[in-house]
Amino acid sequence: MNKFKLAVSAIAMLAVTGVANAGEIVIKFSHVVAENTPKGIMANKFKELIDQRLAGKVRVEVFPNQQLFSDKKVLEAMLLGDVQLAAPSLSKFGKYTKILQVYDLPFLFQDMSAVERFQSGEQGQMMLKSLQSKGLIGLGYMHNGMKQLSANNPLLVPNDAAGRKFRIMSSNVLKAQFEAVEAVPLKKPYSEVFTLLQTNAIDGQENTWSNIYSKKFFEVQDHITNSNHGLLDYMVVTSAEFWNGLDADLRNEIQKSLDEAVKIGNAAAEEKSQSDMKRIVDSGRTTVHELTKEQRDQWVTAMKPVWDQFAEEIGQDVIDAAIASNK
Ligand code: LMR
Repeated sequence: MNKFKLAVSAIAMLAVTGVANAGEIVIKFSHVVAENTPKGIMANKFKELIDQRLAGKVRVEVFPNQQLFSDKKVLEAMLLGDVQLAAPSLSKFGKYTKILQVYDLPFLFQDMSAVERFQSGEQGQMMLKSLQSKGLIGLGYMHNGMKQLSANNPLLVPNDAAGRKFRIMSSNVLKAQFEAVEAVPLKKPYSEVFTLLQTNAIDGQENTWSNIYSKKFFEVQDHITNSNHGLLDYMVVTSAEFWNGLDADLRNEIQKSLDEAVKIGNAAAEEKSQSDMKRIVDSGRTTVHELTKEQRDQWVTAMKPVWDQFAEEIGQDVIDAAIASNK
């Protein structure tokens, strides 16, 4: 091999494996949220643990706030070796697999314990492998929490959403969910939501308390409904090429640190679902509404037909397993 070819193949190796100088492996972790969110805390904790345990062997570089890639681009970039870890919301894998759409079905999981039960069960674990044919590996789930609805008008019954434009993540289930209440869903990147709301290009959005707080959506929305109508959860993913190229001991050590970081992130998620809501209420910048049972039932009745619309793509057995996790 001549010198030029050697240099080219060294660069190609670097791109695929993320191996840096002197054999140090670099793990670039790209995400779109702020650092003071469950995912931001998890990513930074992962870096800290790897720094403590694998210094000189592995280095983690965290890129928050979409500094590196949007969720639309990050998986393509991962397959090219430009990033090694990401944790997109489960709503953003539609291009790669249909089965994860179960997590977007409105009013499916009654609480986060039900989500935990489902994910640790057979179907939930099987889904971590649902991206394998595309060259991606799910290393685990990570929570954010339940989503809330916001707009510049109160959203107390489904008709309040009719005709209004809502930003959604890139999910066909979420599109159907808003169409079910005659609203107008628009798939937009997370990084654009604040400006779209601020300029009234859209009327509303749905997200968790920690995302609404950390990105200041509450400052540009007059009303938020504590609707808990859907779930925002993540899958930590890597490329099979990168992961399988690691030495087995190192891989185990990285997975162990990741699992510990996820536990810390999940604890932050639980805490922030209360504390960030309180911060928003206390700010006085918006009005937070609680639904009566009758009002909530109306949303359930309007949105639940979406389950049947997607039963074939997801699999009724998967939906049934999710329903069973509520007990
Ligand atoms: C969103 O786009 O609203 C979320 O996926 C952001 C995130 O990663 O929590």
